[in-house]
Amino acid sequence: MRKMSVLHLFSLKQVNSFAPIRRDEVFHMIQDISNISDKFEPINLSETLISLSSSIFCRSAFGKSYRETSSVTRTFEELVHEAQAMLAGFFWADYFPMLGWMDKVIGMASRLEKCFQNLDAFYQELIDEHMSANRPKSMEGDILDILIKLKEGSASSTGISLDDMKAILMIIFVAGTDTSSAVVTWAMTALVKTPEAMRRVQQEIRSIVGKNPFVDEDDIQKLPYFKAVIKEAMRFYPPVPLLVPRKTRNTCFIDGYEIQPKTMIFFNFWSIGRDPEYWKNPNEFLPDRFLDSKIDYRGQDFGLIPFGSGRRACPGISLGVATVELALANLLYAFVWGLPDGITGEDVDTDALPGITMHKKNALRLMAKSYM
Ligand code: HEM
Repeated sequence: MRKMSVLHLFSLKQVNSFAPIRRDEVFHMIQDISNISDKFEPINLSETLISLSSSIFCRSAFGKSYRETSSVTRTFEELVHEAQAMLAGFFWADYFPMLGWMDKVIGMASRLEKCFQNLDAFYQELIDEHMSANRPKSMEGDILDILIKLKEGSASSTGISLDDMKAILMIIFVAGTDTSSAVVTWAMTALVKTPEAMRRVQQEIRSIVGKNPFVDEDDIQKLPYFKAVIKEAMRFYPPVPLLVPRKTRNTCFIDGYEIQPKTMIFFNFWSIGRDPEYWKNPNEFLPDRFLDSKIDYRGQDFGLIPFGSGRRACPGISLGVATVELALANLLYAFVWGLPDGITGEDVDTDALPGITMHKKNALRLMAKSYM
């Protein structure tokens, strides 16, 4: 399934085919922020960025626009929240299998079942719509459309069942939507707290983009400091701090400890990213550290693994990076960013909510002034 997804859903060709959707949605986000900034009101960037990634995801995966069919994405957002709450929630059965009955007593088991049923119904409705003769043109070539074609070609080795399709949608849905918005929110948080880095990155973008109204994906390849800012933001505020849990297959030994087979293992990337033995001044936001360095986040450098590493590493990395880069570059290009009256960079908190994806607990609210 993973091989099939990497080949057909997350290939470079596929990532590029969604470029017009990313461009369109980022363009609308910039317009919405301009409208709010004209009224001298603070922008809730956390909310704005979650809406952006939901819109991009809904259009790429289901061929539905967030802005035009808000009821779909409302349901979609509620389902994502509940599914993530269930993934991060405490289940007795995971830690003390003998006490699994406690999950029933406290209602977690029925909440999980309800969440599953709601998601199943949601996917089924979308599949039916995609298979209908009257489906809108926007559904052609979206992720669900590709999955249906793969299912129809079931004579081939990639043939997949209806349940497989729903499971793939499920994992993409949970893993792909809010990670990108978390990265951009944390990067903006870091930049408003580090004005010198903010000044340098905006200057770099503006010197390359010139008088164009929009930063394009091609421009981004010419921005080394901007790329360093994204790496540093993911080191400093890792979007998925414990990666995803793994289970050992065989007995193994670490530092003299014997680890039994089927033990759940977490990698603490948050602490790896702040390890003073690996990083100089780990508790400072210093994008410069990546300027003359070959360290990258694609899973080969074990000190910087925001997308994980190895066989379970994030298959959506190119899609995620493309979204993060385009959104952040345009936010930085289009506006001069400031803090609401009476607040300094030091006052901006960095508290996080519990969950697999690390979200900022309190919304990031900033003042924006159009640059052009
Ligand atoms: C900047 C955005 C993103 C970040 C930071 C991120 C991060 C991660 C991390 C840390 C993992 C676990 C890797 C491991 O434990 O080794 C993961 C897994 C995964 N990600 Fe992403 N991700 C992002 C975007 C996406 C997107 C856009 C998609 C798909 C549309 C996606 C799909 C997945 C899937 C399917 C898995 C599970 C892979 C498996 O278990 O085999 N991710 N991601």
